[in-house]
Amino acid sequence: MKILVIGGGGREHALCAAIRRSPRAPEVVCAPGNGGIAQIARCAPANQKDLNDLMRVVSEERPDLTVVGPELPLSLGLVDEMRRRGLKVFGPTRDAAMLETSKAFAKRFMQRHSIPTANFAVCTSQQEAMAALAMFHHPVVIKADGLQAGKGVLICEKKDDAEHAIEGLFSGHLLGTSETSVVVEECLRGEEISFLALSDGKHATPLIPAQDHKRIGEGDTGPNTGGMGVYTTDTMLDARMAEWILEHVAQRTINAMALEDTPFVGVLYCGLMMTATGPMVLEFNARFGDPETQAILPRLESDLVEAFEACIEERLSETEFRWKPGASACVVAASQGYPGSFGTGKPISGLEEAGRVPNVEIYHAGTAVEGGQFRTAGGRVLGVTATGANLSEALDSAYEAMGRISFEGMVYRKDIGWRALKKKQ
Ligand code: AMP
Ligand code: GLY
Repeated sequence: MKILVIGGGGREHALCAAIRRSPRAPEVVCAPGNGGIAQIARCAPANQKDLNDLMRVVSEERPDLTVVGPELPLSLGLVDEMRRRGLKVFGPTRDAAMLETSKAFAKRFMQRHSIPTANFAVCTSQQEAMAALAMFHHPVVIKADGLQAGKGVLICEKKDDAEHAIEGLFSGHLLGTSETSVVVEECLRGEEISFLALSDGKHATPLIPAQDHKRIGEGDTGPNTGGMGVYTTDTMLDARMAEWILEHVAQRTINAMALEDTPFVGVLYCGLMMTATGPMVLEFNARFGDPETQAILPRLESDLVEAFEACIEERLSETEFRWKPGASACVVAASQGYPGSFGTGKPISGLEEAGRVPNVEIYHAGTAVEGGQFRTAGGRVLGVTATGANLSEALDSAYEAMGRISFEGMVYRKDIGWRALKKKQ
């Protein structure tokens, strides 16, 4: 069996590693992959922004199953095109992926189907958005409609900031492209949880929940990043709360997508704010989270390949998932300057020594190999994951491994999991 994974970050490294653990012993190809992925899978060059190029790889590789990591190929319609050709692919169609690719669609969808989310107004002109501000307290959240790789959400403390954000989004000053639709939204407070569920279009099966750390600085300060670390514990959500979220958010979303003739097959990522009045959806993603996947999949004991096939063949409700009890933590090492500009090509040392720490997996996010030497090749460079009987154990192992790794300008947060550790005291 040959499995093709599309993407080339830490998430795809973790996907390739979990797929390789399958008892079906599949051959794994990753397009384009990265330096670390090349150690466990064959990497095939590909341009992820180009549907024709991705289809070229599919035609050349002729995989038995394809798994799509990032959102961009989904938004280009890769799944639609592969299905048209009768090929097996895990991921949502372009229309189903609109839960992620259009915030205006997602908000209206949640409103239509009574899925708990922050109050909002979808505005199609600057004038309309400025007028809508009067309905909200500050801080207020201003969001670009389309995919913006995390840069399209602005939390505005004052009216001036909000007006500036609205003007910047519609004019194009802020993101380089001018928005035709902007969401003005109530600012929610609480802890964020990433609740991911697999779906076959009808049934939703939750994965273990995770908590991401989006800010660059310790104590959750400074600019937003793609994620600086994440952890999972068996106590993150109690069984009743997990059941509530599954019923009122994940399963309800899957039912409603089917009802609207855009059944969602793939992984539905529900980004939740746990507010004082209950969980509310901040956002949906139509794919695995990064770095959530790097902390979630090392705890999966059952066969991921079987789970993907069950999703494609609409028999997920019969599929059993087993998880290693305890906790996991993934700490991300980034390049100096990230999420702003950063240099690349710095030699990385200590990877082998770090890999010898028990219960540790090192996932490469942005690395390349030159002359047998790993070098930095991105903003986020590595994700060091460890599992353990509890969070402290997992964190100790992850940080011990991280301490053995170095490259010029290496930056990582030393406080991953701080909210959970604080609660324990
Ligand atoms: P999104 O791109 O929608 O996931 O938003 C990115 C991040 O912005 C979220 O993970 C939250 O930290 C924050 N955010 C988004 N919407 C809200 C909101 N309504 N209230 C507070 N924070 C928000
Ligand atoms: N960890 C956030 C995301 O994958 O979007």
